[in-house]
Amino acid sequence: METLRVGMLGAGTVGSGVARILLEEPDRIVRRCGRRIELTRAVVRDPLKARDEVFSRVPVSGNPRDVLDAAEVDVVLELMGGLEPARTLVRSALQAGKDVVTANKALLCEHGEELFSAAREAGRTIAFEAAVAGGVPIIHVLGQSMAANQITAIEAIINGTSNFILTDMFRNDAAYDDAVRKAQAMGYAEADPSMDVEGTDAAQKLTLLTLLAFGTRTRPEQFQVQGINTLELADLKYADELGYAVKLLATAKLLEGGLEMHTQPTLIRQGRPLATVEGANNMIALTGDVVGQTWFSGMGAGQMATASAVVSDLIDVAVGRAQLTFPHLDVWGAHAPVPLQPAEQAFRRYYLRFNVEDRPHVIADITDILGRNSISLASVIQHEAPEPDDVPSGAAPIVPLVIMTHRTTEGQLRRASAELDALNCLRRPKVCLPVSD
Ligand code: NAP
Ligand code: HSE
Repeated sequence: METLRVGMLGAGTVGSGVARILLEEPDRIVRRCGRRIELTRAVVRDPLKARDEVFSRVPVSGNPRDVLDAAEVDVVLELMGGLEPARTLVRSALQAGKDVVTANKALLCEHGEELFSAAREAGRTIAFEAAVAGGVPIIHVLGQSMAANQITAIEAIINGTSNFILTDMFRNDAAYDDAVRKAQAMGYAEADPSMDVEGTDAAQKLTLLTLLAFGTRTRPEQFQVQGINTLELADLKYADELGYAVKLLATAKLLEGGLEMHTQPTLIRQGRPLATVEGANNMIALTGDVVGQTWFSGMGAGQMATASAVVSDLIDVAVGRAQLTFPHLDVWGAHAPVPLQPAEQAFRRYYLRFNVEDRPHVIADITDILGRNSISLASVIQHEAPEPDDVPSGAAPIVPLVIMTHRTTEGQLRRASAELDALNCLRRPKVCLPVSD
């Protein structure tokens, strides 16, 4: 069979890993798909920048037309990230009759509907395994392997950077900023790491999983998205004391009232598989009505894990599997989507941490507000502080107060939270995290 010729847009962390596999493992690829896959050219923003030595064997330019207009390019790999010019270039590639492989979840979350219909009109495919969970083949699982099921729940750790930072803080007492810098140096973080630590990246990935699982098209603005950037080491330690691990958890559950969806740092009970995920690993727990609960885990970010998924997509295109599955992938399809449940109806336990003045009636004031909002307490931690007389200013010391609630609705919690904010015994920040038992 003829060689499949690949043009690459973006030759950074992921692009270098892909180039390495294509150039260093040609025999393996021929064994997998019965034909060669050749990287014929790459386009970058700055062709003069020093880059991985693997690109000494590939023509590199700064002009995307070198890939889009080339007759000797069958597949375009979009590995540049961001929305523009990625969106325009992917459209042009499809219109030029080329299949597309991309790792860009931001692009698919924002413009997926348009790009998928452009691919269908052009009779081409878009493969995007690397867009969610790096090396964990969760898109294939949802699009093909679980097809006999109605998925009823997704609980997923799908931002490797956030999980790496939380692990480094908890295990090594690393300062938050240092852990962010390490995640960047390891190639886990997005070009703008606020996408990782503010929860946006995980929320974008959740929209893709939700679309495949439930046919529901959502945007991160439509559900609760909270990142790890407001967490403190104290919260990780208190959670541990209570028997939980804190993870950035992306959740979508099919309930009677609709789809409950959120992406938030969450206390996960120790002993559950999700609580054991460390470093840049990801885990997706899927519940199917036929199969029951399943877990898929592995490196969710980083050069070679992501390259593994990209090259698998290329092999799917080379053997013709992507061309078979893409038209049947029920994404952005016409069937009735499941509506989103209003955020206020989420019904769960919560971890609350307050910094309070250590003086009479403080706990009574707080529990009064919680009680009047029908929020019942499951446990309380207040470690002993110095005696007020030993504090130099004579003022009441400020101490952390941690409360675990029984299950309550997000609406009740928000109402209580607004009342709590008015208490003058409370100091900011107040931390409020959901719990997944
Ligand atoms: P990266 O290291 O920043 O590389 C981006 C590449 O794109 C660079 O080669 C850059 O050129 C090029 N580029 C950026 N803007 C361009 C433009 N306007 N025109 C031409 N080239 C342009 O990013 P990455 O980590 O490889 O990520 C690439 C994609 O994979 C993103 O969509 C990301 O979300 C996704 N992804 C990444 C990971 C991961 O672990 N890193 C995992 C899964 C998915 P220069 O080299 O000249 O700057
Ligand atoms: N920045 C992303 C993460 C890359 O840390 O998970 C993988 O999509």
